[in-house]
Amino acid sequence: MAADRLSRIRNTLGAIPDFPKAGILFRDIFPVLRDAEVFKDLNEEIFEASKSYPDVECVVGLESRGFLFGPILAQKLSVPFVPIRKKGKLPGELISQTYELEYGTDCCEIQKGSVSKGQKVLIIDDLLATGGTMKAACDLLEKLEADIVLCLCIIELTGLKGKSKIDKPFKSLITFD
Ligand code: PRP
Ligand code: ADE
Repeated sequence: MAADRLSRIRNTLGAIPDFPKAGILFRDIFPVLRDAEVFKDLNEEIFEASKSYPDVECVVGLESRGFLFGPILAQKLSVPFVPIRKKGKLPGELISQTYELEYGTDCCEIQKGSVSKGQKVLIIDDLLATGGTMKAACDLLEKLEADIVLCLCIIELTGLKGKSKIDKPFKSLITFD
């Protein structure tokens, strides 16, 4: 059952205090990948979530942990996978988007021509915290005039209210305060 699967996934996630800095409780996805059955369950849950949004034509994954799940979902849906990476990592002609961090700014990039105008895109990442990364991905894809049908995260840290930054359909599988 989906509820059983989700609680098994939730119970397998790691929680590391004070990483990468004091006061942050880091939600670690990697214990899930170390358990083949739980990892399979998670990929099934992601696939099930995507089915409520038919006609997805492309999966876009966010560096780096979105790359762990995006290509698997893209294969299940038989659609292309496209990465959004942090500045300076992708070759060729790029479109860039600067975004706010807690302190300062960062920049993410996508390859020109990797998503076409009007293409129905699902964006995936492991976790939504402040929402800055997902918002930047949406802004980047809007520059390409993509049709964002779903922003999907495995974990949402609801206390940070990141969802309020996202003005596209958003779904998370597991929430923490
Ligand atoms: C983490 C996470 C999301 C982002 C969420 O990535 O995987 O991409 O932070 O934070 P936000 O909602 O506040 O923007 P991180 O920047 O740590 O990079 P990594 O996946 O490459 O480690
Ligand atoms: N990215 C931003 N905040 C995070 C957290 N608390 N755990 C894991 N990844 C994160």
